[in-house]
Amino acid sequence: MKIIHTLSELREHLSAYRHPAVVPTMGNLHAGHLALVRQAKPLGDITVSTIFVNRLQFAPHEDFDTYPRTLDADCAQLEAAGCDLVFAPKEAEMYPQPQTFKVQPPSELADILEGHFRPGFFIGVCTVVMKLLSCTQARTALFGKKDYQQLMVIRNMVKQFAMPVDIVGGETQRAEDGLALSSRNGYLNATERQQAVLLSATLKTVAQALREGGSADIARLEAQAMQTLSSAGWKPDYVAVRRQADLQAPRAGDPMVVLAAARLGATRLIDNLEV
Ligand code: PAF
Repeated sequence: MKIIHTLSELREHLSAYRHPAVVPTMGNLHAGHLALVRQAKPLGDITVSTIFVNRLQFAPHEDFDTYPRTLDADCAQLEAAGCDLVFAPKEAEMYPQPQTFKVQPPSELADILEGHFRPGFFIGVCTVVMKLLSCTQARTALFGKKDYQQLMVIRNMVKQFAMPVDIVGGETQRAEDGLALSSRNGYLNATERQQAVLLSATLKTVAQALREGGSADIARLEAQAMQTLSSAGWKPDYVAVRRQADLQAPRAGDPMVVLAAARLGATRLIDNLEV
């Protein structure tokens, strides 16, 4: 597996390929990322992973400085999963001058849910993803469904800009107790790690109620789920039932998804379940 840090070297190496399949990441990899790499393998003529902690998508009070940088361990795992090439640029390579051109996603998709609680987050994500897809000449790019809204925003961006990239979603990988795998799970202490199962359990309860016909009273289900989390000491930002197609309020018969974000101690976790 080749590890490349500069754009010029990346371009030279990729000139021999027609269909890079790319898994963009911020590193500190877990089994969810590696599943995406394995999923990418048959989808291109070279499997590329990018590792870049993107300052643009972090608010000043968020964890940009402390986000774990674990390049050596990440590369070992990527190689074992069959990745052919890692592009791990330094910040000065990706942003040699302030990135004043930015991608502004539409408010109805990007200022709700995550975007409401993390203003500017999707501008940062879209800007870096567009740049990474361009740098890697991606023809297929894979993103985890755990970041459900991110996947939807990126799909729409690629479609509206007519970028020649197929966007593929990967299923959320979970620990045995149901906790969705996330790089931020590493912030949890042992007690919090045990408590963290409540987030996926709460989503399951809402999804079950919806399947049993509870869609008439979505507001009540959302409020009950928020209450469950708050009573157990979490600080929930939202538990929301939305339609899968565009994350707006569902109408009768729409395929739905339940999404949640909540803080446990100092760690903010997100998760979702399609219904
Ligand atoms: O999901 C992530 O890890 C990041 O948001 C992404 C897509 C790599 C962009 O920095």
